[in-house]
Amino acid sequence: MCTSCDDLLEVKYDIDKILSIINKKQFTQRPINVWKYIEMLPIKPKSIVSLNEGGTNLIKCNRLAENIGINDLYIKFEGSNPTGSFKDRGMTVGVSKAIELGFKNVICASTGNTAASLAAYSSRAGLNCYIVMAKGQIALGKLAQSIVHGAKIIELKGKFDDAIKLVLDISKKSDDIYLLNSINPFRLEGQKTVAFEICDQLNGISPDMVVVPVGNAGNISAIWKGFSEYNTYDLVKGKPKMIGVQAEGASPIIDLLNTGLSEIRPFLKPDTIASAIRIGSPRSWKKAIKSISNSNGFGTSVNDQQILKAQKDLATMEGIFTEPAGASSIAALRKLINSGKIDKGDKVVCIATAHGLKDPDIIINKNMIPYQIDANLASLQSILGDSK
Ligand code: F0G
Repeated sequence: MCTSCDDLLEVKYDIDKILSIINKKQFTQRPINVWKYIEMLPIKPKSIVSLNEGGTNLIKCNRLAENIGINDLYIKFEGSNPTGSFKDRGMTVGVSKAIELGFKNVICASTGNTAASLAAYSSRAGLNCYIVMAKGQIALGKLAQSIVHGAKIIELKGKFDDAIKLVLDISKKSDDIYLLNSINPFRLEGQKTVAFEICDQLNGISPDMVVVPVGNAGNISAIWKGFSEYNTYDLVKGKPKMIGVQAEGASPIIDLLNTGLSEIRPFLKPDTIASAIRIGSPRSWKKAIKSISNSNGFGTSVNDQQILKAQKDLATMEGIFTEPAGASSIAALRKLINSGKIDKGDKVVCIATAHGLKDPDIIINKNMIPYQIDANLASLQSILGDSK
């Protein structure tokens, strides 16, 4: 945090210097992953802690596009990162920075994915990892990930918003613990690489819109920073509009955008099935609002039913399994096409922020039970029908 105004910090670069050291021909031939962009990241090569993050597929989704009523739709599937979410882009940079600065202890508050990612990267780096989470609010897969990587997990009687306040307080008081929530500006530098990758995967032409699930609100500003920087480096033509999505029961940023309030009004009891973005008082709200408005974008909220339908649509039409928070971008796209705010001809990228396996309970609880049969051919045939 800035010591004079107490607001969040941002990493700035000497653009001319970076341009002078990049050999564009050699640069374009590197494989796509977070560290392709090392010259554009604030880390010395010798301190890198990596699990080979980034390089996630940008999947053209024709069946879903036709169903929704749009011509050109891509899903950037962040579930294929090492721990199954976009957080790994930030943690490879954030944990590398912790090593560079000589820290032995790292901490975060989390709705689950940040915790899983920090647990994995800190174990690889040999750091002690402390995680503060709201008791009973974390999806099973994410909790299992944090446990298996050996993090010290602290369950709190309260919600994410209480947890983040506590970790902020402790990191201000204590000199030997490094805070790795997305208020850490170095972490966001890693997360901006998703924008670089999209530009490279679309052969240097920006999409018209990028739809991003928003929780604590760091990621959308990181992605916008990425598109803006890549444009400045002249590595992409154009910049997209950033479309921020929150769940209806936890949508203080969308309320602010829609009502013109000057300060965020926290949701005291945030409530949505999308537990990853169940956040009532997002810390990076100012950065998110700035990114959305600088890109001429806008925000929208979606309800749980729309989120679950989008999750199922993506899984059944395209073979992509994302958790509810990740599916909120697809739910928003359908809503915005129906209302005419996104045009059929726009080239749209939806970010599916994490893998669906992290939150299996929702699927098992909400969907049909398998058929039960005896172990013989006739029983099987009775279900398959006449498919000899
Ligand atoms: N999607 C998923 C799957 C997430 O886990 C998160 C945030 C977001 C979207 C929103 O990103 O906070 O940068 O706006 N998860 C955090 C966590 C809060 O603790 O895992 P954001």
